[in-house]
Amino acid sequence: MALLNIEELSVVYGGAIDAVSNVSLKVEEGTMVALLGSNGAGKSSTLKAISGTLEFERGEITTGDVQFDGGSVRAVKAHQRARAGLIHVREGRHVFSGMSVEDNLIAAGFAVGKRGSAPGRAEIDRIYEYFPRLGERRHGLAGFLSGGEQQMLAIGRALISQPRMMLVDEASLGLAPMIAEDIFRIMAEINRETGLSILVVEQNVGLTLKHASYAYILENGRVVLEGTPDDIGGRDAISAIYLGAAAKAAANPAHIGG
Ligand SMILES: Nc1ncnc2c1ncn2[C@@H]1O[C@H](COP(=O)(O)OP(=O)(O)O)[C@@H](O)[C@H]1O
Ligand SMILES: [Mg+2]
Repeated sequence: MALLNIEELSVVYGGAIDAVSNVSLKVEEGTMVALLGSNGAGKSSTLKAISGTLEFERGEITTGDVQFDGGSVRAVKAHQRARAGLIHVREGRHVFSGMSVEDNLIAAGFAVGKRGSAPGRAEIDRIYEYFPRLGERRHGLAGFLSGGEQQMLAIGRALISQPRMMLVDEASLGLAPMIAEDIFRIMAEINRETGLSILVVEQNVGLTLKHASYAYILENGRVVLEGTPDDIGGRDAISAIYLGAAAKAAANPAHIGG
């Protein structure tokens, strides 16, 4: 049984907008899997359905199921899913900008920690081992970090509670290619060394296929291609995503550029 198993998931906003239609996907324990697709394909909605945060955006699962660790979590609240080890790194590098790097990690540990207590020194230092730049800036305000460092901190906050599965939404967006590569290399290293299962959502096909062992490609809320990076090939994946998006824009010119 896969650690995460999504069956025929459909997500609707406001009773009208079909964001995700009949998506089935799974993540085997200890693997790093990618969910790729252009803007508006339904990637974030899928992650929110998995972490239980859809309700905060008036989205709902109309059909299908989300199973984590062998059981349905449809009725389980987001904070309880987090406590069970299913952690969501939301799009947009969410950190507390007025707090130090270290306090950000401590606060995240408190919020999700199993004992409701602060994370220990060893847990914090483990994050600095993976992300030395965060260690160097541990006393600095998170708001003064670069975009790449803020993304590292957002991931560090998720890792502090030693989750079983991390969902990461567009970690590379807006970052210099070398920094994005660094972040993916470190996530892959954590996946290998600790067995943490990772589901990454990305628009950056090339970077992601270098590190993920399996990928799903979403278009208009549906899975249009899936397989190992070798199966689907970078080129096919890129054209499925970007030609698909181009065809959509051509059919609906009002949305070009928006
Ligand atoms: N909170 C929301 N309310 C209404 N529509 C939404 C909301 N969030 C996303 N959508 C719509 O759902 C579709 C999928 O969005 P999303 O899951 O954010 O895609 P992606 O992450 O792939 O860019 C888009 O058409 C988007 O406009
Ligand atoms: Mg998104």
